This record gives sequence, structure tokens and C-alpha cells, in this order.
Amino acid sequence: MTYQISSLSTAPCSDETCSETEVLQVVGGARLSGQVPISGAKNSALALLAASLLTGESCEISNVPNLVDIERMSAILVALGAQVVRQGDRLIIRAEHIGYASAPYELVSKLRASFFVIGSLMGRCGRARVPLPGGCAIGARPVDLHVRGLQALGAEVHIEHGVVEAYCRSGDRLEGARIYLDYPSVGATETIMMAATLARGQTIIENAAQEPEIVDLANFCIAMGAKIAGAGTKTIVIDGVPELHQARYAVIPDRIEAGTFMVAGAITRSTITLAPVVPAHLGAVIAKLQEIGVRVVLEGHDQLTVVGGQNYRCADIETLPFPGFPTDMQAQFMALLTLCEGNSVIKETVFENRLQHVAELNRMGANIKLKGNVAVVSGVPALSGAPVRATDLRASAALVLAGLAAQGITTIKGLHHLDRGYENIDHKLRVLGAKLYRLSLNNG
Ligand code: UD1
Repeated sequence: MTYQISSLSTAPCSDETCSETEVLQVVGGARLSGQVPISGAKNSALALLAASLLTGESCEISNVPNLVDIERMSAILVALGAQVVRQGDRLIIRAEHIGYASAPYELVSKLRASFFVIGSLMGRCGRARVPLPGGCAIGARPVDLHVRGLQALGAEVHIEHGVVEAYCRSGDRLEGARIYLDYPSVGATETIMMAATLARGQTIIENAAQEPEIVDLANFCIAMGAKIAGAGTKTIVIDGVPELHQARYAVIPDRIEAGTFMVAGAITRSTITLAPVVPAHLGAVIAKLQEIGVRVVLEGHDQLTVVGGQNYRCADIETLPFPGFPTDMQAQFMALLTLCEGNSVIKETVFENRLQHVAELNRMGANIKLKGNVAVVSGVPALSGAPVRATDLRASAALVLAGLAAQGITTIKGLHHLDRGYENIDHKLRVLGAKLYRLSLNNG
């Protein structure tokens, strides 16, 4: 199917209103089996969409998941003057005429990654107006590192009435610079990398984020003609070029979706196979599953099988930037650890408010004590289904996982979070044998 994106269109459950009229009922206890396809990485695709503004020529990006967040980002590109066409899993983007329009607040406020267009707009046009991203449930998430990076590249940046306005101090091109990031922020690394591809001279980002999504963005920019070395390490070197050109590129598999399905196999004591995956992107997740007592079998270069066991041991987790344990997998592992013998300690170091699922898991019979950013999970023999509410994207996945293992029925509200980040998750789980149904409260 081909369609041109003109504004935010269809999505399973795209906003808070819809999420209040729909619930997901999960009937616990079903064994899973079979193979599950892993979609393209949401966070990579969002960055690639932002980067497509760096050229006026057509970019064809494939393996793009069909998600509410991707639709929102596409709508932002359209509002900025780009044409976006979806053909199956491909997005064809042509940003021939990019105006000085402001990215629309209603969309930017719902999707933090949309702020990252400030990097490509500054690179391409030498000026940008982007509203500050809205507050997010998992933490304050400031943009100071993005702003300081752009200032180091020669941008004048003013924040007034909630809008970040930036322009080149001299002429219409940024100037390369050496930038040290106080923290290896994924978004700031992406913003600076995009802006620097078209700057005059060389930019060196020190203490850069090393996430696979950074490497994917660099590879896409390189496909467009950018000169970038060192992506995936702490030091990224970008030699600015005058312009970029058309490119065709496929998004990497989503390591967080893969990790979530691995936990689904483990928590239901099942054997399931996942493909395609990049095992190197899943190092910390595989190591923790093995520590708990789950078998993970690598098959070829892009497939793995999770073999669940009966008795699991506790494990301690500290979330860290890549290659450390991903904060985006913390909630899902907490669901699993509720059923592991002994006391597990989970320390969330990346976001300050990312433990709201603790209360919901406790409603299901878990025994989790919270002190600041540390949760102590004491394993219980079983969870019991309960009405719960998803508080953010990965928390919603954790509740689905807990529901799959619980005795009885779990009813999950707040589905707009789930639909932001998991493509066809109900369908994929049902094909594996899970029993879960989306119910509209309007229809009784
Ligand atoms: C990205 C991911 C998100 C993931 C996170 C960490 C996307 C769209 N989202 O988010 O799923 O959980 O990486 O792996 O790719 N910070 C500042 N100042 C800044 C920027 C960040 O203080 O200017 C702080 C944040 O508040 C947070 C920490 O740095 O505490 C990490 O944030 P960052 O790596 O920037 O995450 P995002 O890019 O927002």
C-alpha cells in the first residue's frame, strides 16, 4: 500500500483519549512457541527521518516500523515542507524545499525525538525553530547538551516562550568544533552529528553515545555522502561536506523489541525464536538472561532462540549507556525478576523517574520495595492478574509480560504508550500462542 502522509493519520491507538476507551486483556498462563519477526528499530528510524532533512534529494528508508511515533515524526517533516510517502515498510522522503516553519508544538510535545530535527535543520538551513519537547513521564529530560553542542558549532541559540530558536552566528554554515559531552546522551550525539555533517571543517564529539542507533544514523549519513568515522566508539570525527545526496537505507532490527520478546519467552517458560536480530546489540540483555538461568542459543548471524527454564535465580541490574544494560529494558526485566528466587536489586541511573511500574507490578502480587532510584525485587512464586495502568512505553511492555505469566486475567489501560513503540505486538504474541485481546470499552 502506498500513501502520502499529510498529517497524523491512522494508528491503532494514537492518543490518550483513545487509550482510555481501549484495554488489553491478557489471559495468563499460556505457553509460547514458534518464531517472531523483529521489526525495524523505532529509535533508529526516528533519527534517520530527522537526518533525511539534510538533503533536498529523495531518501528511501526501508524496514521502518509502522508506529504512532513514526507517524508523528513523518507529520513533523511534512509540516517543515518535506514530502513523505509510505510504501509498505518503506518511507520515501523528499525535503527539497525546507522552509523556516516552526516544527508544530502539538507533535513535538508528544515525541521527544522530534526535537532532534534541530540538528538537521541547522546543518541544512543554518537556522531552526523547534519547540522544547514536552515533559515526559520518565524524567525531566532537558536539552542542554544539544544546545551547548550547537553553540560550540557556532550557533546562536535563544529559548523564548518554549521555542528554541537557533541560527548561525556567521553566514549560513556552522563551523566544526571539538565538543565534549558531559554525559553520552544519545539524542545530543545525534543532533550534533547531523548538524556537523554539513558544517565547515572538522567536528570531534568526545564522550559520544555508543548506542547501535548512533552507528545506524552515521551509516545512513555516510550513505548520503557524509564523512563520519568512529561511530560506535566514544570519539566520533565528522568532516563537514558542502552537501549530501539521495540514499537508500534499511533500518537495523529493534534491539528493545527483541529484548522484550526474549523476556516473553523467559517469563512464560517457553522456547521461542527471534529473527532478525543483531546479537552484538543484545550483549547485556543476553548476559543477564543467562545469569538468571535462561538459555539463549545463537543461530547463524541474525537469529536466536530463547529456552525458558523452571527455576530462575535473582540478578542485580544497573542501567547504563550502551554497552551497559539498557534503561529501555529495565521495566521488562523487573517483571521477570518478580518471579526469580531471591532478592534482585535494580538501579536506574539513566532516567530519574523510570520506576513507576513498581506500583503496578505490586498490584499483581509482586514484592518490590522502592528507595529513590533503587528497587529491591523479592521473588514471589506467582503473580496474579489485576487491573493495571501503563505509565510509559516500556512500563506498558512490562505489564504485558507480567500478565502473560500471571494467574488469571490482567487488564491493561493506557495503551497509547504501548502503541508508540511496539509494532503489532498483540498479533505477534497471539501468533506465538499468547491469549490477549484488545477490548473497546465503548462497545461494552
Ligand atoms: C534515547 C532513546 C530512549 C533511551 C535513551 C537512553 C530515542 C528516541 N530515545 O533517548 O529510548 O531510553 O536514549 O538510552 O532514541 N540529558 C540531559 N541533557 C540533554 C540530554 C539528555 O541531561 O541535553 C539526560 C537525560 O535527561 C537523561 C540522560 O541524559 O537523564 C540520557 O538521555 P539521552 O541519552 O539523551 O536519551 P534520549 O536521546 O532522550
